[in-house]
Amino acid sequence: MRRPHLQSDPRANPTDRYNREAHSYRELWAPILRVAGLRLLREFAGAPVHRIVDVGTGVGFLLPDLRMTFPGAFILGIDRSPGMLALMPTGSPRAVMDATQLGLPPASVDLVLLVFMLFHLKAPADGLREARRILRGGGRVGCLTWAGDLQSPATLIWTECLEAHGAAEADPTTETRHEPVNTPAKMEALLCSAGFSSVRCWTDELVSSIHLDHLIRLRTSMGSAKPRFDSLTVLAQEACVADARRRMEKLEPEDFVARGSVVCAAADASRWADTDYVRKRNKRRTR
Ligand SMILES: C[S@@+](CC[C@H](N)C(=O)[O-])C[C@H]1O[C@@H](n2cnc3c(N)ncnc32)[C@H](O)[C@@H]1O
Repeated sequence: MRRPHLQSDPRANPTDRYNREAHSYRELWAPILRVAGLRLLREFAGAPVHRIVDVGTGVGFLLPDLRMTFPGAFILGIDRSPGMLALMPTGSPRAVMDATQLGLPPASVDLVLLVFMLFHLKAPADGLREARRILRGGGRVGCLTWAGDLQSPATLIWTECLEAHGAAEADPTTETRHEPVNTPAKMEALLCSAGFSSVRCWTDELVSSIHLDHLIRLRTSMGSAKPRFDSLTVLAQEACVADARRRMEKLEPEDFVARGSVVCAAADASRWADTDYVRKRNKRRTR
């Protein structure tokens, strides 16, 4: 029998979901993503940076690293989810704003970060154009998006258990929302079209050991896969967890090492970038 697909319902609204799952996010997911964020920050270290906006900052997990990398800089965390912002480190400046309509003056910031958030925007280019607007000439933008899922033999067992216990199929929009930003070439085109220059995009590996209890709590308490677990009856949920636990207890430690890949991007806000890109694009079209 075909399993039903999860339908997009109001509860699937990402802001509601992030509000509800903020505590789990901070405890279980943010530390995993931080590794990739830290590597991106190294790209910008050493530059004279006084004002930073972290767009889609979530629980602000990257803020201590930003403070270490840019001592004395003013750092503003922006997010659409008040529930996530409430868990930012105490005393950090924050504001509820939409990435596509930032209430900040033009040319007022040295560095804008959009870390693991562009895939939430209907049109990622709108978020990048807004970042370009608030950056001063010579300011820089840094982005991270997913190129490939974080997976391990243990995460695959979890997916098999969901299937075996009759979970609904994944909501297909969960996958498709990553498509516009999941390769360096796509990110380069988006950044150029948003008016950035000196665009550099590359992929990086994200490796993290996610052990049994952490993995089960992660999959049952937050994230885009949680609705599949929620689609099971309480009895089926218990059986699914027991089955997954039994199978994972037989794994070796290396089977919990999850590997994924991310797209990193760094670019400059320069006055002439728009023209550069349009000229290059027109040249390509006429070839
Ligand atoms: C996967 S989390 C990343 C959080 C943080 N950057 C990190 O790496 O831990 C995505 C964040 O983007 C925020 N977000 C999604 N759409 C947004 C929008 N249109 N404007 C502002 N924030 C948004 C969500 O509320 C969430 O906190």
